[in-house]
Amino acid sequence: MASPSPVAHETPDPSFAELIAARPQLSAHAFDGLMVEGVPLHVIAKAAGTPTWVYSAGTLRRRYRALAEALKNAGLDAGVHYAVKANDSLAVLRVLAKEGAGADVVSGGELMTVMAGGIPASRTVFSGVGKSAAEIRYALEQGIYQLNAESIEEVEIIDAIAQSLGVKAPVAIRVNPDVDARTHAKITTGKAENKFGIAIDDALALYTRMAAMPGIRPIGVATHIGSQITSGMAAYRAAYARVAELVHAIRAHNLPIERVDCGGGLGITYRDELPPPPEALAGAIATTLGGLGLPVMIEPGRWIAGPSGLLLTSVVLQKQGRGRRFVVLDAAMNDLIRPAMYEAWHGILPVAPARLTATAAAADVVGPVCESSDIFAKDRAMPDLPPGELVALLDAGAYGAVMSSTYNARPLAAQVLVDGERWAVIRPRQSMEELLAGQSVPDWIGAS
Ligand code: LLP
Repeated sequence: MASPSPVAHETPDPSFAELIAARPQLSAHAFDGLMVEGVPLHVIAKAAGTPTWVYSAGTLRRRYRALAEALKNAGLDAGVHYAVKANDSLAVLRVLAKEGAGADVVSGGELMTVMAGGIPASRTVFSGVGKSAAEIRYALEQGIYQLNAESIEEVEIIDAIAQSLGVKAPVAIRVNPDVDARTHAKITTGKAENKFGIAIDDALALYTRMAAMPGIRPIGVATHIGSQITSGMAAYRAAYARVAELVHAIRAHNLPIERVDCGGGLGITYRDELPPPPEALAGAIATTLGGLGLPVMIEPGRWIAGPSGLLLTSVVLQKQGRGRRFVVLDAAMNDLIRPAMYEAWHGILPVAPARLTATAAAADVVGPVCESSDIFAKDRAMPDLPPGELVALLDAGAYGAVMSSTYNARPLAAQVLVDGERWAVIRPRQSMEELLAGQSVPDWIGAS
């Protein structure tokens, strides 16, 4: 039955029990089956339908606090600016806002979203390689905390807009330190060939120019080397050491500098990865940048939101192919695109108690979309899963709902927040009317 999966793994997949044990918000109840915090998933499925994203507020808080404390314990004056691109639900933002989080945004839309979620512009960093003039103007009008500029061309645009508004724009330059974060090629950002940032060797000259621009207040240096970094701290340390050198050079030229932005990228355990813990990141920042006596900030997205969410879905049918069983779900690549796009491995758990302990055999777990890449898992040990059985795709809280599309005219899935024994729909399932809303057919096409 086995055929090569897209990514060959040398170790066996974690068991259902291991997947549950490693995720504090999950438990398997003898009668209710899989639960998130105090809420059985079958209750949510019955009330909200499937597919539905389910987020754990407790996990968001626990992970935010773990990061903030690790930085504090390392003696750093540090801000945590949650990378909103990972999960931009207003309820998720509100949970983090109440913890005191700042935000990292990459569009005017994300800036509006974080403000609606309760994180003010004054705690928000605006990153991104191509901010439009309208976005820059909007961010400055809202009193943005920091704009991370990625090129001289962009700094000139910011300068002109800030002058027209009669303000000085707080600008950090994002440098590309040319280090290899050894992550998936599609999510590495700190190599010279990537489109991101300013080559670190050009940074001092740009910083010097910025200091002479009437619309710019140069405030710091930012870097971000990639995402889902699990291979240890070496790449981080190399990047931060280069940033520290740059800060020394900036100071040697008597130029002002207020803070360093250390980016995001800390990886999580999807399968059996052993990512460095927050203490290791805090330690790497402290040893490389701590001596500068400057406040620092980080921009984590996945580390906070990823483990907090799952995609709850139902089995449509099981199909016996030639020597291969397919479990067809009602969720698809339009909902969670990570397996199709990055060959990402996500844990998959049945929800019913009997299915969690039943004998399992290899199956391909797929969605109903008309693409061969609409596969969540190949050769995954799964019990018999008749139509209607519930299944949870784990660690889908980051880069899940935000990357959804309506491909195949599939409405966007509902979203739910669990907090202890309470839960609420935080975004209802999109209706077909909403999906078609706004479209029109020109009169001159004529009636059908
Ligand atoms: N800061 C900047 C400038 C970024 O570009 C990113 C992510 C982050 C922070 C947050 O990175 P994190 O802590 O979440 O790793 N869709 C992909 C991930 C793309 C990440 C893009 N940039 C995935 O599903 O794996």
